[in-house]
Amino acid sequence: MPYAKIVGSGSYLPPKVVSNDDLAADLATRGVETSDQWIRERTGIQQRHLAERGVKTSELATLAAKAALEDAGAQASEIDLIVLATSTPDFVFPSTACLVQANIQATNAAAFDVQAVCSGFVYALTTAEVYIKAGRAKNVLVIGAETFSSILDWNDRSTCVLFGDGAGAVVLSASEEPGIIGAKLHADGTKMPILSAAGNVSYGEVVGDPFLRMDGQAVFKFAVNALTQSAHQVCDEAGVSLDDIDYMIPHQANLRILSFLGRKLGVSDDKIVVTLDKHANTSAASVPLALDQARKDGRLVPGKLALLQGVGGGFTWGSVLVRM
Ligand code: ACO
Repeated sequence: MPYAKIVGSGSYLPPKVVSNDDLAADLATRGVETSDQWIRERTGIQQRHLAERGVKTSELATLAAKAALEDAGAQASEIDLIVLATSTPDFVFPSTACLVQANIQATNAAAFDVQAVCSGFVYALTTAEVYIKAGRAKNVLVIGAETFSSILDWNDRSTCVLFGDGAGAVVLSASEEPGIIGAKLHADGTKMPILSAAGNVSYGEVVGDPFLRMDGQAVFKFAVNALTQSAHQVCDEAGVSLDDIDYMIPHQANLRILSFLGRKLGVSDDKIVVTLDKHANTSAASVPLALDQARKDGRLVPGKLALLQGVGGGFTWGSVLVRM
């Protein structure tokens, strides 16, 4: 089987929806000032789903995984690998992938986590494709899941308004038909100072800063350039023209990043899938959540060509070209 193909997708969002106005009112009680107008104008975000305190990433991931299995018409026992992207794992160990493996009773699956922050799903999908192409797996559950609300400093208005919680998943299977036709990943660890959550648990104590910190403007510039170059590179290597792409599914961080990206690539707005207005930035979950939405609303029908893109902490970034 020469290809790895997406044969099902699913997603899950926690039921609690917090509008910008709700959030502004809540933050005001802490003396933190923000507004719907500021958030909308600077980011395009209108609302986010937030998990209740104590709800774990594995719980969201499990529900997304079950939805993807059902959509694919696959049994958990047919899955031979689970690759789960997250930066908000339930525990130091076991991996969140193992917790999902137990929850869905995927008794024939190996399972591990991938940590590439907002590029996590693109990294996980590329990893899964390599397993399938090498003949080491036939059906892989690829999941992006986060509870970013747990690593936000709710007194820092420059970051806490940007993120939400959620999970998305796909079933990737060996196929004779084209599926993933190109992929390219990158990393630059020297960029750690512009985006990190540089804390750890050591000797029974939190060491360092457990909250996400970001230089927003530096991240903005880096993200636009990295995604632009990455799009050109993966298309060139696959022998595909940017004009051939039906839909772009970039990481959902900021509407202005997506607009700049579209303009730089000459891709019209109607070809860019946007969910950040409703989900905010869900890190590793943002791409599979957007992909699932575009499949379910009838845009990503079989045969369509999609460009999936991630960029985030590390820094990490990358692109995957998928024939649906
Ligand atoms: N509400 C009201 N005012 C705010 C808020 C807020 N939530 N946050 C910051 N401000 C204020 C600042 O204090 C500043 O005030 P000052 O001029 O009095 O000092 C003013 O707004 C402008 O702040 P900037 O940081 O310059 O605002 P900018 O236009 O750069 O927008 C933003 C900030 C939205 C974070 C932008 O830089 C951005 O989108 N960067 C991309 C980062 C991103 O999306 N990261 C997501 C994680 S990384 C990833 O997913 C790739």
